Amino acid sequence: MTQPMPRLSVPAALALGSAALGAVFATGLFLGTFTGYSALALALALPPAGRVVTCEVNPGPPELGRPLWRQAEEEHKIDLRLKPALETLDELMDAGEAGTFDMAVVDADKENCAVYYERCLQLLRPGGILAVLRVLWRGEVLQPQPRDLETQCVRSLNERILRDARVHISLLPLGDGLTLAFKI
Ligand SMILES: C[S@@+](CC[C@H](N)C(=O)[O-])C[C@H]1O[C@@H](n2cnc3c(N)ncnc32)[C@H](O)[C@@H]1O
Repeated sequence: MTQPMPRLSVPAALALGSAALGAVFATGLFLGTFTGYSALALALALPPAGRVVTCEVNPGPPELGRPLWRQAEEEHKIDLRLKPALETLDELMDAGEAGTFDMAVVDADKENCAVYYERCLQLLRPGGILAVLRVLWRGEVLQPQPRDLETQCVRSLNERILRDARVHISLLPLGDGLTLAFKI
């Protein structure tokens, strides 16, 4: 009998992983906030002076999550930037924050995922972790001919990460696929 692939929500996967990382991680970068549930999971795992810069273009969803950030007494750690993620990444670079983040999570639009990967890698410190979410893209990445631009972008980023000598990687079958890239 075929067993279904284990499913774990993105926030649950992040909470699980980040809980183990809190002791040594203090700064996080999150691309694709949506309601901010995952950004909250990350903030909860960081020490009291921790900081999560989280990027979102749509102002609606984070307003649903913000009361929970407050209720959890984590709002002070969450720095929400409501604009295209690329603009925020450029601002962080211009502010001299390259090489300072402990962890980055990429879960925004797939069309820009390769650029997000490059910028996040620059912003991470050596030893930092880059988490790229939804890398299996519902299995579509296995199609010999990707059917749409998003699938092409996810697949080509997967291939790029596989060949990238700047990182060690682990692809976990959690949620819709989670790649952890450890910056060397
Ligand atoms: C898949 S959802 C993120 C889900 C969220 N990480 C979670 O675990 O609940 C992708 C999010 O990225 C946002 N997004 C899309 N394009 C963006 C961009 N250029 N800059 C920042 N956020 C973007 C969308 O509005 C959406 O909320």
